[in-house]
Amino acid sequence: MRLLVCGGAGFIGSNFIHHILGAHPDYFIVNYDKLTYAGNLDNLKDVAENPNYKFIQGDIIDLDQLNQVIQENKITHIINFAAETHVDRSIHGGCKDFVLTNTLGVQMILDAARINKITKFVQVSTDEVYGSLGLDEDRLFTETTPIWPNMPYAAAKAGGDLMCNAYFVTHKVPVVVTHCSNNYGPYQFPEKVIPFFVFKLLKGEKVPVYGDGLNVRDWIQVMDHASALDLLLHKGEDGGVYNIGVDNERNNLEITKMILQIMGLGEDRIEFITDRPGHDRRYAIDASKIKALGWQPVYTREKFEQGLRETVEWYKKNTPWVEAIWEKKKGEMNKFQTDLERSETQMKSAS
Ligand SMILES: NC(=O)c1ccc[n+]([C@@H]2O[C@H](COP(=O)([O-])OP(=O)(O)OC[C@H]3O[C@@H](n4cnc5c(N)ncnc54)[C@H](O)[C@@H]3O)[C@@H](O)[C@H]2O)c1
Repeated sequence: MRLLVCGGAGFIGSNFIHHILGAHPDYFIVNYDKLTYAGNLDNLKDVAENPNYKFIQGDIIDLDQLNQVIQENKITHIINFAAETHVDRSIHGGCKDFVLTNTLGVQMILDAARINKITKFVQVSTDEVYGSLGLDEDRLFTETTPIWPNMPYAAAKAGGDLMCNAYFVTHKVPVVVTHCSNNYGPYQFPEKVIPFFVFKLLKGEKVPVYGDGLNVRDWIQVMDHASALDLLLHKGEDGGVYNIGVDNERNNLEITKMILQIMGLGEDRIEFITDRPGHDRRYAIDASKIKALGWQPVYTREKFEQGLRETVEWYKKNTPWVEAIWEKKKGEMNKFQTDLERSETQMKSAS
């Protein structure tokens, strides 16, 4: 397999590359990433010299460059992780980049896959496209649950999903779409909840929990997500949609308390803050379709505490990694705030 990994310098993409180079040492990987604030080549330092790995900086919106990379490297398969992923940014910072990358970017990859007769394209999407479940609802998201997203990030991802279906039906592009739940593990950008909380607690600060803290997610260890995607690259049905989850529903307060306990800290470090607008109450995944293909996660619900402990330990041990990325990207991380403040000032002076 000669695999183009789009967005491989981010959290899940870099873990996936580690997985593939370990599980299939004879596969050739091109990591094609724009290196936005969330992309970090330090995640892949240890494989940078591997002769079966190559990094090319580029934007998925650039069809000419995509075609060139695919042709020059004789690419046979594509997997796409490239996305704008931070929900708060999509709410507070304007969401143009979200639509450009998460919807239009996917369409460009679909064009590239069609033009170059790619054997398989796996589009990594999210369970957030399904909208929200109630806390007491006796229902899980299945692959036939209607797509009905509640926030701009999820809507932009849903746009990409719909394009995939349209390109499969219209152009017979052999595409597979995945809907995975919340990931945890090493190399996650420290604006996301678990590394963010660990980092704040290490600095002696409190951790901000949205609303009543009872929003529920199904937490999956990132390497389990990677093994599911590996399976789908090989065995996913063309035009198929697959949910990925581990029956590990936990609310935010529970996760926060577990992190505090692992770090030997008290619940006085919790600070409740105003809830996020459009905050979905609960996501829960029925993953029986991919399990029927033979996928088995290592970190099941019973092993969650172990997985979380290992993750917390990784961030504690790799504080220099967190601090370096935090320092390097501070300007860009604050940019979405300043964009928002600028447009609010303009609105005030216009009124
Ligand atoms: N993190 C989760 O819990 C989760 C859960 C389910 C699905 N997903 C999906 O998995 C994918 C990866 O998520 P992540 O958490 O690793 O994200 P991330 O933000 O850590 O990484 C995104 C990567 O995409 C790159 N990128 C962004 N725009 C690009 C563009 N236009 N062209 C090329 N590269 C670009 C960035 O530089 C970065 O390396 C996303 O599509 C996301 O929707 C994430």
